[in-house]
Amino acid sequence: MRNLDSKSHVRGESVYLDDIPLVQGTLYACVFDSPAAHGKLISIDTGEAATSEGVVRVITAKDLIGENQIGGIVPDEPLLADGEVHFQGQPMAIVVAASEELARKSARKITAQIAPLPVITDPRVAAANGELIVPPKKFVLGDSAAAFANCAHVFEGRADVNGQEHLYIETQGTYAVPTENGGLKIHSSTQGPTVVQRAVCRVTGLPMHQVEVDVQRLGGGFGGKEDQANAWAGICAVAAQLTKRPVKYALHRMEDMRMTGKRHPYSADYRIGLDKDLKIVAYEVTFYQNAGAACDLSPPVLERTLFHCTNSYFISHVTATAFCCRTNLPPNTAFRGFGGPQGMFVIESAIAHAAEKLGVAAAEIQRKNLLDDGDEFPYGQIAESDAITSWTQGDEKYDFAKHQTDADEFNASSKYFKKGVAMMPVCFGISFTKTPMNQARSLVHVYTDGSVAVSTGAVEMGQGVNTKIAQVAAKAFGLDISQVKVHTANTLRIANTSPTAASAAADLNGKATQMACEAIRDRLLCLAKDLVEAEKVEDLSLENGFVFRNGERTSLDWQTLVMDAHLERVNLSEHSHYATPGINFDWSTAKGHPFAYHVYGTAIVGVTVDCLRGRYEVDYVKCCHDFGSSMNTAVDHGQIEGGIVQGLGWMTMEEVVYDAEGRLRSNALSTYKVPDIYSVPKEIAILPLETDRENLAVFNSKAVGEPPLMYGIAAYFAIRNAVAEFRKTAPPAADSDSVVLPFDAPFTPEKVLMALYR
Ligand code: MTE
Ligand code: MOS
Repeated sequence: MRNLDSKSHVRGESVYLDDIPLVQGTLYACVFDSPAAHGKLISIDTGEAATSEGVVRVITAKDLIGENQIGGIVPDEPLLADGEVHFQGQPMAIVVAASEELARKSARKITAQIAPLPVITDPRVAAANGELIVPPKKFVLGDSAAAFANCAHVFEGRADVNGQEHLYIETQGTYAVPTENGGLKIHSSTQGPTVVQRAVCRVTGLPMHQVEVDVQRLGGGFGGKEDQANAWAGICAVAAQLTKRPVKYALHRMEDMRMTGKRHPYSADYRIGLDKDLKIVAYEVTFYQNAGAACDLSPPVLERTLFHCTNSYFISHVTATAFCCRTNLPPNTAFRGFGGPQGMFVIESAIAHAAEKLGVAAAEIQRKNLLDDGDEFPYGQIAESDAITSWTQGDEKYDFAKHQTDADEFNASSKYFKKGVAMMPVCFGISFTKTPMNQARSLVHVYTDGSVAVSTGAVEMGQGVNTKIAQVAAKAFGLDISQVKVHTANTLRIANTSPTAASAAADLNGKATQMACEAIRDRLLCLAKDLVEAEKVEDLSLENGFVFRNGERTSLDWQTLVMDAHLERVNLSEHSHYATPGINFDWSTAKGHPFAYHVYGTAIVGVTVDCLRGRYEVDYVKCCHDFGSSMNTAVDHGQIEGGIVQGLGWMTMEEVVYDAEGRLRSNALSTYKVPDIYSVPKEIAILPLETDRENLAVFNSKAVGEPPLMYGIAAYFAIRNAVAEFRKTAPPAADSDSVVLPFDAPFTPEKVLMALYR
C-alpha cells in the first residue's frame, strides 16, 4: 500500500509550516547570531535596528519574562546569549518586523562587542582541558586487560568520523499565535511537540496548559528536529508574548546550516585482540564525542555509541569509555542512528585493521564473530540474535563470495579502475535507552457516519508513520483505509508525548492505537452480539465493513452498527496508553535490558574506484534485512533505500568543515555535497529476513527508520579495499608498521586520490 501522503506531496498540496495560512497582523522574526565562536559579551548595540523601517521590537536576553534557558538535560543553553558567546551562530538578539525582508535587513544592523576567548573545535583538546559536559560513561564486560595477555594478535589505532548536516528539505521554523488570556498556539516543525511545549513554557513563564503545540508534518527531521526545534519555537513564542502579535520565523537554508548542530563527529582509540582462529577476544575503545557548545542530546547519543560499540559481534572482554566533550561549535544533536553509526564505524575500522595486518578478508573476521542466541551484550542484555541468520540468508540469495571473485577478476585485468567489496552486518537496539520515554498515547474517535479519526503523538516526517497508524486502525475495525484519518500531533489531544525518534514511533503509537481501537471494537461487538443474535462475542469479528459471525458475513454493516451503538449510548471514543513492557536500564551498574528487541541485517556493498581521478561509484548495495512482518513494504523499502543513501553520503561525500575559528565553511549546498540521483547505487536489493521470532512491535512488524543507514558504512571499507588493490603495485608506505591508511571518514574523492598516491 502506498504512503497516504504521496498524492498530496506530488501535487504540492501537503501542508508544511510555511503553508499555514497566516493570521492578520502576523510579524516576522529574525535573529542576530554571534559572529565569534567564543568570547565575553561586552555590549550589544541594537539601536539602529530598533529604529529601522518596519521594526516592531528588538529583543535581547534581558527582555525575557521567563527563564533564558532551553537546555533540557543540562541547563547550559541560553535562548539568547548572555554574558558570553559559545559558538558562531548562537542567537543573540531577535528582530521582529512587519516583513521577513525587513526583519533580516534590520538584524544586519546589530553589532556586538565581544572580547575573544580561546576557541576549541577538537574534542581531544576539550577532553585534555577538562571540558566535559557530563562525567565519562563506561561499559565493561569481562576483563579486557587480562584477556589481551592471551591474544595471539593485538592491534591498536585511531579512527575519526566526521559529522553530517541533516539537510531536511524543510528548514527549521515556528509560527506562534497568541490565544486568549495570554496563551500561545505554536505551529512548529518539530519531532517533539512536548519538547517544544516545555521549552516555550520555560522561556515565556507560561504553564503547559496555556501552550498548545501542533505539528501537521515535517519536510524531514532525521533527528535534527528532536531537540533543535526548541530555539526557534522559543524565539517566536517570546516575540509573540512581548508584541502580543502572531510571529513567524522560517529559517533560510544558510541560517539553518550555520546556526544548528549536526551529527556528532567522533575521534576514537581502539585496541583489538584476536586468538589464532580469528575470534575477537578483547576490545577496548575510547570515544571522544564532539558535543559542541551545549549539552543538547549529546549524553544519550554518546550512550548509544557505547550500546552499539560491538555492533553485531560477540566479544567476551570489552571496555568501552566515552567522553562528552564541550567545544565551540553549534551544539551537535540527534541524527538517524543516534550515535550508533559512529560506534560501529570504529569496530569495523578495528576489524579492517586486523584483517589487513593478518592478510585475511575482513569478512572472515566479521563472520566468525557474529552474535549468537544467548550471547551477552556489554550492557548485560542477552541477545536473541538473527546476526548469523541474516548473514546466511543473504549469502544464500546473493552469494557473497562470488561478488569478491568477480571483483578480483575485474581487478586482475584493469589497471586504472579497481573494484572493492565490503560486508556490513548491523545490529541496532529498538527502544529509547531512557526507559521512561517508551510510552505513547492514542485518541480514537468513531463518528456516527462510521468514519474514524486518530490522534497520536507521532510526527509524520516522510517516514510514513501516519500510513502505518491508519493501517492499524483500519485493520482493527475491518475497514478500508479511506475510512480512517490520522490527525496532527497536538499537545491538547495527546499530552506528554515522547519525540518521534529512536525508530519507535510506529511501534509505540501504533500499539496505543491498536489498544484504543480494540477497546471500541469490543464494545461494538458486545452490542452486535444482540443485534445478530450470536451466542457469544468471540464468534464475531469486523471485516470488510461488516460484522462476521464464525467467519461468515452477516447483514449488519459497520455504519449501522456504529449508529445503533451511538443511540444505545455506547462510548465511541477511546484514549489508550501503551508502555513497552520488560525494559530497564541501570546506569549505576551500566547493565540492564534496555531494548524491546534488536533489528538485524547484513549488507554487501560493491564500488568501483577510478584510480586516475579518485572518483568512485557505488555499484550495488544488497542486504538481507529484518523487517519482522512488514506492515507496509512500500514504506519500508523507501526507508531502507533512503537510509542507505544517507549512510553512503555520510561515509563518502558529505564533509562538514569548520575552520580553527569555529566558522562553518561548508555553509551552503555549493560547498556541502549531498548524494543526488547520480550517487544512488546502481542497484539496491532488499531481501526480507525470514524469522518466526515474536517481538514487541505492532503486528510483529519491526522498526525500520534508522538501522539501514548503517549499511552505508560498508561503502567506506569497499572504497578502502579498492584503493588497496591499486596500491598493491605502489611502493610500500614509509610507516609500514602502522595501517596503510588512516581511518578517517568521509572518504571524499579528494581523500581517495591522496590515498591512491600517498
Ligand atoms: N524518513 C524520512 N523520510 N524523513 C525523516 O526525517 N527520520 C529518520 C527515520 N526515517 C526520517 C526518516 C529518523 S532519525 C528516525 S528516528 C525515524 O525515521 C523516526 O520515525 P519512526 O519512529 O516512525 O521510524
Ligand atoms: Mo532519530 S536520530 O532517533 O530522530
